[in-house]
Amino acid sequence: MPRFNEDLMTKAIITAVSGYVPDEILSNADLEKMMDTNDEWIQSRTGIRERRVMPDDRAVSYIGAQVVKDIIEKRNIDPSSIDLVICATCTADYILPDSANTICYMAGLSKAYGFDLNAACSGFLYALFTGAQFIKTGVYKRVIVIGAEKLTSYMNYEDRTTSIIFGDGGGGVLLEASEDEQLGIIDAVLRGDGEGKDFLRINAGGSLKPLNQERMDGREHYVYQDGKKIFKRAVNGMATTIKEVMARNHLTNDDIRWIVPHQANLRIINSVASLVDFPMERVMTNIDRFGNTSAGTIPLCLWEYEDQLKKGDGVILTAFGGGFTWGSLYLKWAY
Ligand code: COA
Repeated sequence: MPRFNEDLMTKAIITAVSGYVPDEILSNADLEKMMDTNDEWIQSRTGIRERRVMPDDRAVSYIGAQVVKDIIEKRNIDPSSIDLVICATCTADYILPDSANTICYMAGLSKAYGFDLNAACSGFLYALFTGAQFIKTGVYKRVIVIGAEKLTSYMNYEDRTTSIIFGDGGGGVLLEASEDEQLGIIDAVLRGDGEGKDFLRINAGGSLKPLNQERMDGREHYVYQDGKKIFKRAVNGMATTIKEVMARNHLTNDDIRWIVPHQANLRIINSVASLVDFPMERVMTNIDRFGNTSAGTIPLCLWEYEDQLKKGDGVILTAFGGGFTWGSLYLKWAY
């Protein structure tokens, strides 16, 4: 197999970040009125105070288009200079067509094309590493990677262990080329295990189990999860891949300024930080206000912490999600 020579390749660096959440807030107090739950239970078990809800007439493409437009404005670049948009999502506007091409259209990207990538909550990591390859090989100059979800469309508000967790929103980054070898997307350990499909899925509405009345009556078109199983696998998957990516890049905790974990549950995040012996002050979190937005959580964190990120900061992104999918990505912040 011919291989690209790493030494001859440019780096893919992140040059802009943006995020979007809808205005409507669904607080724990609101949930108390809808089901048998309480604020104390939700906060102590998950760390979530509130999450956001998209209006009925807007979905993933709207989030993506807002993010793309903001990135273009912030970076002050020509929309026609964007080559590719990758949209990580498991809640695309439609099963057919994809959301990424709708995003290109809505944001006025006249020379771009796009594709969706579904790796559930690990989607942004998979998409970022994929997008970086197009830059590193010199195929494209500008790639936008989005992670966005409208999970409230798939919540059964009679299932109190699942519906309290998820919310809507997302973000994205612009990838560009750099000759600076010290910056950008450096390495990733990405994993998958199809056994996970039994523990986290939307059962009906796909090609195996098309929607019908019986399946809808059985609430099979909503997210189902086995919370306890996922909890253990998530902690283990994120901690193990953080250690692996650090070991093979000869990194210690002093080389890493930030860990940016998928925001699934604050207890999961705390456990991961403790397993890799990393201080929580350098772990990005915003789960208290946005809940779990699946592929959206990591870019939403980067967006909120943008002011605190400095050029040269070592950053590890880590995620776990349906599939199962999981992994950790090591990068150096470039601005
Ligand atoms: N409000 C009040 N009580 C609730 C509740 C709610 N919203 N949800 C569950 N309970 C109750 C249960 O009925 C149970 O009561 P019992 O002891 O009388 O039977 C008790 O709380 C404990 O339930 P359990 O399911 O064991 O709670 P848990 O500590 O495992 O927490 C999750 C549940 C879902 C919060 C937790 O397992 C989790 O976060 N898992 C990971 C999920 C995840 O990350 N998914 C996305 C993957 S990317």
